[in-house]
Amino acid sequence: MSTTNPADSAQLKDIVAHAKEYGFVFQSSEIYDGLAAVYDYGPNGVELKNNLKRLWWETMTQLHGNVVGLDAAIFMDPRTWQASGHIAGFNDPLVDNLDSKKRYRADVLLEEKAAEYEAAGDPGRGAALTAEMGRLLTDNDLAGVRQLILDEKIKCPVSGTGNWTDVRQFNLMFSTQGSAVDSDAPPVYLRPETAQGIFVNFLNVQKSARLKVPFGIAQIGKAFRNEIVARQFIFRMREFEQMEMQFFVRPGTEGHWYDTWKAARRRFHEALGLPAHKLRFHDHDKLAHYAKAAVDIEYEFPFGFKEMEGIHSRSDFDLTQHQELSRKKQQYFDNDVNPETGKPYGNYVPYVVETSVGADRLFLATLCEALQTETITEGEGEEQKTKTRTVLRLHPAVAPVKAAIFPLVRKDGLPEKAQQLFDSLKFDFRLVVEERDSIGTRYTRQDLIGTPFCIAVDHQTLEDDTVTVRHRDSRLQTRMPIADLRGFIGEAVSFKRVFELL
Ligand code: GAP
Repeated sequence: MSTTNPADSAQLKDIVAHAKEYGFVFQSSEIYDGLAAVYDYGPNGVELKNNLKRLWWETMTQLHGNVVGLDAAIFMDPRTWQASGHIAGFNDPLVDNLDSKKRYRADVLLEEKAAEYEAAGDPGRGAALTAEMGRLLTDNDLAGVRQLILDEKIKCPVSGTGNWTDVRQFNLMFSTQGSAVDSDAPPVYLRPETAQGIFVNFLNVQKSARLKVPFGIAQIGKAFRNEIVARQFIFRMREFEQMEMQFFVRPGTEGHWYDTWKAARRRFHEALGLPAHKLRFHDHDKLAHYAKAAVDIEYEFPFGFKEMEGIHSRSDFDLTQHQELSRKKQQYFDNDVNPETGKPYGNYVPYVVETSVGADRLFLATLCEALQTETITEGEGEEQKTKTRTVLRLHPAVAPVKAAIFPLVRKDGLPEKAQQLFDSLKFDFRLVVEERDSIGTRYTRQDLIGTPFCIAVDHQTLEDDTVTVRHRDSRLQTRMPIADLRGFIGEAVSFKRVFELL
């Protein structure tokens, strides 16, 4: 299967343009020409992103009695990053082209070459190339990586030459001054993953919430990486948000939990509406310094199948490292009886299975999947017309606005009735009232931001307290008593619709 399609860059451009025009995502500091790889979420974007985050949060902490939440600080003692291995090992292999003076990630150049083989119908050669790259990177054989680039005759897209420097490692962490009074104080880092805030709080959480292994700690928060390849919109950012869950297990059971969470996380994406054929698992070619096994859930973005979520079996690596550097025991006493010995399992450092999804990548996948253009026919007989409609088919549970209320005209008491309806439902749902423009134009505006229902208040409403509900996806209109709206909308937009599929 092809991983890239040149025509799809046009699709990404449409998504970027749509995201800006309808208040989903803006380039950061745009009036100063924008800061590369940093983005801001607009009025509809922040609602959609918050809904996705809340859905993930409730999936983790509400549906699992043994998963609890945490909100750790971004700044941590710098020794955290020494223990975790990020100071020594959180690097990207970079290479410069001597003619264009452009800098690239060596692994990305090779991955793109592998994708070319795949697109040209030679997936075996592509797979062999990524496997060889993984081997060289795992061995930190940077001269070998450079030689592979030369052997593959990879050229700089700007200069067109293969005049490459040596490959060298570049640390991805941002740092800032740690102390206002001591200029010799070590720098503090902007965390490159939220997971370490969970590890260092492992015992605080376990003891205060009186948790028994296996249990999980979930967290949503900002992470920062000085990414060199900054493109593909919000796919790769320097400041982004992660939704991570560390699941602490008895050593020896990690394989079972790795498989369990792998399947559960894929079901989450499917339940949210990402089609099964656009999701796939991809085992890592090169394991991160902390991982014993790792798989990505990839989604087919317009620029090919790319990582959306990582599931990692981290063994006891992190807790043991923190235990050694902090000299504080990071052990759990397991009083369950081991059937093999007839004695309690006793003290151990738990193993960890991690699920880690980028809120921004989930947002992008959701947007890519939802934005659709379709041909529709309107009217009847001689009046019938065919036109195209752009519609954002978001899952109703995550749509920024759940229903838009339209008084048919701006007189005869209809705006007041519409406002009354807004006031009676605003405690339950996020709604808007729109009075301006024709009903058709108002429907179009709501289709473009993914509002699942539009409610028209007309003269009949004043007589019998019924309204017309127009459904975004089918465009069908149904007459309904106002008294039924809360139940009807509530059922359609409830997170339960997603939870039931998990
Ligand atoms: N704690 C494990 C960890 O951080 P990762 O695979 O490096 O693992 C996890 O990152 C997820 O975070 C990725 O699957 C992706 O969704 C998101 N992510 C990572 N780097 C990102 C970036 N530069 N921009 C946006 N999202 C990113």
